[in-house]
Amino acid sequence: WPAKAPLIHAINQLKKEKNAVILAHNYMTADIFHCVGDLMGDSLALARMAAESDADIIVQAGVHFMAETAKVLAPEKTVLIPDTRAGCSLASSITGEDVRRIKAAYPGVPVVTYVNTSADVKAECDICCTSSNAVQVVESLGSDTVILLPDQYLAKNVAAQTDVKILTWAGACEVHELFTAQDIQDLRDAHPGVVIITHPESPLEVVQAADFAGSTAAMADWAKDSGAMKAVLLTECSMSDNVAADVPEVEFIRPCNLCPHMKRITLENIYDCLRLEQHEVTVPDDVIEGARASVQAMLDLPK
Ligand code: 13P
Ligand code: SF4
Repeated sequence: WPAKAPLIHAINQLKKEKNAVILAHNYMTADIFHCVGDLMGDSLALARMAAESDADIIVQAGVHFMAETAKVLAPEKTVLIPDTRAGCSLASSITGEDVRRIKAAYPGVPVVTYVNTSADVKAECDICCTSSNAVQVVESLGSDTVILLPDQYLAKNVAAQTDVKILTWAGACEVHELFTAQDIQDLRDAHPGVVIITHPESPLEVVQAADFAGSTAAMADWAKDSGAMKAVLLTECSMSDNVAADVPEVEFIRPCNLCPHMKRITLENIYDCLRLEQHEVTVPDDVIEGARASVQAMLDLPK
């Protein structure tokens, strides 16, 4: 990207001057992911790496709930987000007040929240989960019924793999709910031998028709290790660009959906955010405490 080179150089200089790191989610465009990102991964790995880093400033190249999770795990650091409008259809589907109402309606039933939620929602729940460990988290609670919020599709995918009864909420990822089992059949017909990898935020029939489903990090690892010659990452569009750079021998076929929230983050607004130290993400102390307890309960589970 020759036209972007000066901007990339300027961002990398600013990071050194300000002792800042850029957390780049797997759905960032390749210029961000490969040229200015310091720590790359799925939403939870980014927050964990943020907490371990000795940077003073964290720039979240991702969406708002990810920046909040970084703040919850690293409250002493300054967390910035380049565009405050970078939301998520799952995170915005539910509030802390909604969770309080659900708990009142189902007293004693443990509540698990997906990591794609606000800190406020995490603080109201018993334990967090990711798309990779949701079944393990649900089963760790020793209850025959569990409430798993807010993704109805993740909940159905988990319910298909456990005897625990799962109650859920009507949230959905606007990117993954659009994929269909017919898309997978069409891809297999058009590209014999193709390996199809998707995310558990997709409908059950899509996950069941795919070869693998996992968090974005698990998807990338599986694509790299599968030995496939042709693969589809049936997810957000930037994933294939970012993974393809590490495995040039794999041909990536690219049907995908754009996440409008992720795409709000650009090199330009990363530069402004770092230069002006603007758009700080803050979380009230009592919410940090509650949300951290819920994330920590998940991290404490045996691997
Ligand atoms: P991961 O935690 O798998 O990175 O998911 C984040 C996300 O936004 C998926 O749509
Ligand atoms: Fe949210 Fe879906 Fe976008 Fe991920 S891809 S940030 S879950 S809307």
